[in-house]
Amino acid sequence: MSPVTAYDLTGRTALVTGAARGIGRATAALLAAAGAAVHCADLDEAGAETTAEALTAAGGTAFAHPLDVTRRDQVAAVVETARRTSGRLDVMANIAGIMHSSSVLETEDADLERVWNTNFKGVLYGCQEVARAMIATGNGGSIVTMASGAIDTGAPGLLCYGVTKAAVVQLTRTLATEVGRHGIRVNAVAPGWIRTAMTERHSAEAQQQAERPMIRMSPLGRVGEPEDVAHAVLHLASDASSFTTGQILRPNGGVAMPW
Ligand code: NAI
Repeated sequence: MSPVTAYDLTGRTALVTGAARGIGRATAALLAAAGAAVHCADLDEAGAETTAEALTAAGGTAFAHPLDVTRRDQVAAVVETARRTSGRLDVMANIAGIMHSSSVLETEDADLERVWNTNFKGVLYGCQEVARAMIATGNGGSIVTMASGAIDTGAPGLLCYGVTKAAVVQLTRTLATEVGRHGIRVNAVAPGWIRTAMTERHSAEAQQQAERPMIRMSPLGRVGEPEDVAHAVLHLASDASSFTTGQILRPNGGVAMPW
């Protein structure tokens, strides 16, 4: 297989959650540029539509779906619609997620529940529904989950977030062992600091202050952009990674989190 063919997704279908902005949007755009028909799903319906329109305007094939990943019925419906519309579903990128910051001592039950429901249960529902669909179709597939550098270290304020991302890794590794025989691969991406709305600070000064330690400690001397993560997802989605499953890929500039 030539290197170009290995990354070619022509004739394949992908479902991307969190596609309205940030990493999800960049991933949807890259998968479409690689030839996939891309179903863009997000709680932000207008944002998902804007992404799908941009992908279509760039010559790709894209559809938008309103989706709350914390609702299993909605996840199942979007997976089924995507499969029916495109006739197959080869790739799922579970990218929707939320951030929450509170110290261990100040964390309330409701904080943990909210982040758990989106970051873990949302991914679990996505993995379950799409794996069932892929098994039924019989073409195999690639499922990508979104972890974080928070899995590699403690960080002040990131208890809820880190717990959910560590759980996503365990889900990824476990599912990989269970569906491999159906030709389905399951891998996680654990990005470092990426410039998106999630990491945006209120002022330029606060932004620089937050990014400075990451830039100083990174051998590459910079923080990440959404496209850096999108390329990692494309690798895992494509045949270029056909012998890779149950793994964690870390696009993090060489540094997890400098605490
Ligand atoms: P973002 O905040 O820019 O985008 C997140 C998207 O997810 C938004 O479009 C939002 O509407 C959507 N979303 C939130 N809750 C949802 C729900 N219940 N159902 C459907 N969609 C929902 O965030 P960003 O930075 O693009 O993050 C994407 C993923 O990457 C997240 O899982 C995040 O935890 C992870 N990540 C981000 C890093 C960063 O530095 N930005 C680093 C490591 C991981």
